[in-house]
Amino acid sequence: PVGRKVKFLKWASLFALMCQSVVATAMLRYSRERQPDPKKQYLTSSSVAMAELYKLLMSSVFLLIDLDFSWSEYKTAFRQSFVLDWTDTLKSMLPAFLYLIQNNLLWAASNYLDPAVYLATYQTKILTTALFMVVLLGRTISRIQWFSLLLLILGVTLLQVGLHDHKGRILSTDSLSEPLFGLLLLVTACFLSGFAGVYFELILKSSPVSLWMRNVQMSSASLAFGIMTCYFYDAEVVWRKGLFHGFDWFVWLTIVAWASGGLLVACAIKYADNIMKGFATAFAIVISAFTDSVFFGSRLTSVSQSGAALVVISVLFYHGVCWGIFPRMRISFPK
Ligand code: C5P
Repeated sequence: PVGRKVKFLKWASLFALMCQSVVATAMLRYSRERQPDPKKQYLTSSSVAMAELYKLLMSSVFLLIDLDFSWSEYKTAFRQSFVLDWTDTLKSMLPAFLYLIQNNLLWAASNYLDPAVYLATYQTKILTTALFMVVLLGRTISRIQWFSLLLLILGVTLLQVGLHDHKGRILSTDSLSEPLFGLLLLVTACFLSGFAGVYFELILKSSPVSLWMRNVQMSSASLAFGIMTCYFYDAEVVWRKGLFHGFDWFVWLTIVAWASGGLLVACAIKYADNIMKGFATAFAIVISAFTDSVFFGSRLTSVSQSGAALVVISVLFYHGVCWGIFPRMRISFPK
């Protein structure tokens, strides 16, 4: 029964992550579009800080549920984590810090690159993730699986390039002035994403500290970083208009949907792994493209359609190895 429960949690977390990605991406887009006046728009930095606060609260609640609502065990767990074992807690702060840099690099890169190039290049994180899984976790990935990861990237790239070509490129000459610099930022973000994800998987699976305690540790660090970012970037606006200016019920709902993604990423990494998480989010991109065409009227070009097909084929190839369809031709790196 324990094995069955873990299997259920694995597929449930991957499925939930896929649905969350579709819903949260659409909500984020709509939350910006419904307020055309930039002066009235909510601050990104305060919404990021609120998302971290939500993650911290939810992780604390899930931790309490994990401990069967025993208040004394709950207090002991916090004392153990933040007072007695604070050096171990610092380990969780590393991915929190790396994710902070990653998010800022992504934000900066989006100013230098065409959105299609930006989104497609960011999929390289699938390869950097696989590389770190081999190097840090000692995982072996067969030749067919490497090939299927390349197919996955190609699929998502074609899908996005096709979509954006159709919508018309949102380019200004300014944004193309330093595309190489943008690419450099993005490739760095891919390495950070791969390393942070795999490092989180390593500390989750190699120590007895529970998933929710790791999330409490991580989101407290991220909340502190988030508040600092608010202060450094937007102190003047926050002072004049308040932290929550531009917030309404829909913005709060978007924050909850977005932050739940972070919790689901953590569950997917714990019960499945980083590569499966990559597949779940790639599928979400395919579904988003289809829902976009149904609800927002965009047309799926044949390039996008072939991209979507490649994503599906890549999953079959990757898992074909596990299902015994393909032989296990392994290439592994020395540890
Ligand atoms: O692009 P990538 O898949 O690397 O992004 C993962 C996201 O998941 C990051 O934005 C990070 O903030 C979030 N995350 C989280 N809690 C975790 C692990 C990841 O919020 N425990």
